[in-house]
Amino acid sequence: MPPTIPITADPSLPESTRHVLESISKQFHLPDERLHAITNQFVKDFALGLGEYAKPMAMIPTFVTGVPDGTEKGTFLALDLGGTNLRVCEVQLNGDKTFKLRQQKYKMSEILKTGEATALFDYLADSVDSFLTERGLDLEDQEELHLGLTFSFPVEQSALDKGILLTWTKGFAAKNAVGNDVVRLLQDAFDRKHLHVKCVALVNDTVGALLSRAYTSGGCLLGAIFGTGTNGAYVEDVKNITKLGNSAAAAKGGKMIVNTEWGAFNNTRSILPTTPHDNKLDRESINPKFQAYEKFISGMYLGEITRNLLLSLIDSAPPVLFKGNSTPVLNSHYGFDTAFMSDIEAATSVKDIKAVIVQNLGFEDDQVSDQDAEIVRWACELVATRAAKLSGCAVAAVAIQTGHARLGGGFSKDDSKLAVGVDGSLVQFYPGFETRLRASLRACVGEDVEKRVEIGMAKDGSGVGAALCALQAIKQNTRQPV
Ligand code: BGC
Repeated sequence: MPPTIPITADPSLPESTRHVLESISKQFHLPDERLHAITNQFVKDFALGLGEYAKPMAMIPTFVTGVPDGTEKGTFLALDLGGTNLRVCEVQLNGDKTFKLRQQKYKMSEILKTGEATALFDYLADSVDSFLTERGLDLEDQEELHLGLTFSFPVEQSALDKGILLTWTKGFAAKNAVGNDVVRLLQDAFDRKHLHVKCVALVNDTVGALLSRAYTSGGCLLGAIFGTGTNGAYVEDVKNITKLGNSAAAAKGGKMIVNTEWGAFNNTRSILPTTPHDNKLDRESINPKFQAYEKFISGMYLGEITRNLLLSLIDSAPPVLFKGNSTPVLNSHYGFDTAFMSDIEAATSVKDIKAVIVQNLGFEDDQVSDQDAEIVRWACELVATRAAKLSGCAVAAVAIQTGHARLGGGFSKDDSKLAVGVDGSLVQFYPGFETRLRASLRACVGEDVEKRVEIGMAKDGSGVGAALCALQAIKQNTRQPV
């Protein structure tokens, strides 16, 4: 419900309030020149990560050397860890761009996320075990079932079924996992439980999104997640991944999917538009100074940035919001969920915004004025628009890196579509996220290219992607080592 006049220009607001809002607006504003500079830095950081290991933007070679075309066939298990829930799926690829997926979600507790890694991996194995029992697939005498693991954290892969966890993100901090091969950790847990399951492939959710989009629609350049976390994977020329050196993969040439781990873009914050609210969030997070870009963009953090901003308006003198009153919910760390922002921006009247505030934040009806409701909506829009615009820079950078666009526009090699498979709660549910992302993409690479970018949901990307990867692993194993 965009207001008819911007709130910062509303004459009914006291002058001091308008001043405060205007100065905050400026902090969050991203003019085109700033978007260009950010995109430019992105492309430079891509090059750094492709050239050397241990760079902040890891640019991880995935050893996935082709994209599917929809003819792939087979039935696989998939295990998906890294979003809000843990999921176990059985995926049947029909070979005609369609698939059948049966899945079960399992809850992830804070204790599992931050306890011992063996407990976490035992829980993963238990979940697979209970899924197999429920589906009647736990027959002891049958051959091993093949499983693809979607593990949505930065993992330095050395093969399709091998990868060392570099760091945890998104609130995970399980001990004794970083530095270890996650496939080994999972397989050991399966073996401890004598499960007839073999983990044959490891895949990031972005790679899963790319593969599943390619499977269902015939091709894909970029897989991107805008959800609890954010990241992108794209198809790169192997000759550009110079850190592969003289390896067999380099000698083979061709294409390879690279997992950028763009959530770690600009951890120094030299170019990101950092405000005091972002600094507070970062300082109080479990990984300060890491995943800088992700903290500006993803669903795990937007609510918290907005909460910091709202509290600063409550505390300002004179108060700008709720007559200077707060609530226990609003005072709690991560008490303001990104989903509330989404509901507030989706509301079609001031009355509806008030209802979201009253229901979720613990205010009484008479404690929320129309003006409060409008200011809260404005704050949500500010934080979410900045996130979507920054997201557009990452997409623009991939289009430039792959030779499909030039910074500033004026480049139109051909008319072909640039397919982007996306997944995640923000892009799926946040009102106007894609429109705002596209505005920034247009500002960075011009309208011609922006129009060619076809953004589509990567349906069940994590499950289908893991199955496709498992299939490729089995094919490659019967041919030659990667
Ligand atoms: C992780 C990525 C993942 C992204 C989206 C980030 O925190 O580092 O590996 O792809 O979240 O789930």
